Amino acid sequence: MKVLNLYYSMTGNTEKVAKKIEEAVKELGHEVDTIKVTKKDMEWDILQYEFVFVGSGVYMWLPGKPLQELYMTLLAKYHNTEDIKEGSQQ
Ligand SMILES: Cc1cc2nc3c(=O)[nH]c(=O)nc-3n(C[C@H](O)[C@H](O)[C@H](O)COP(=O)(O)O)c2cc1C
Repeated sequence: MKVLNLYYSMTGNTEKVAKKIEEAVKELGHEVDTIKVTKKDMEWDILQYEFVFVGSGVYMWLPGKPLQELYMTLLAKYHNTEDIKEGSQQ
């Protein structure tokens, strides 16, 4: 299985968790791309992955800003291309 392991970490805790997830996924024999989100768009297609982990610390009750912005970018992108149907679970 092709797995995407996205995370945002300001002080390193979520990064440690993301590394553990990467180890576990590899041990199970799957391919995994672990990526720290630092900007609001991605060069690659999230739909090429069969399973996606998303992790973030909580900052003022919310996930990290780069991750929030990435969500909004992906929402607009896949909504416009209709690759993800309206009302699909996110
Ligand atoms: C600026 C800042 C704001 C935070 N706000 C919250 C919060 O609103 N609620 C909460 O439960 N924890 C909050 N925390 C705690 C972090 O979510 C927690 O330390 C987390 O492990 C940080 O993850 P990271 O090390 O991957 O950045 C905050 C931490 C920081 C540094």
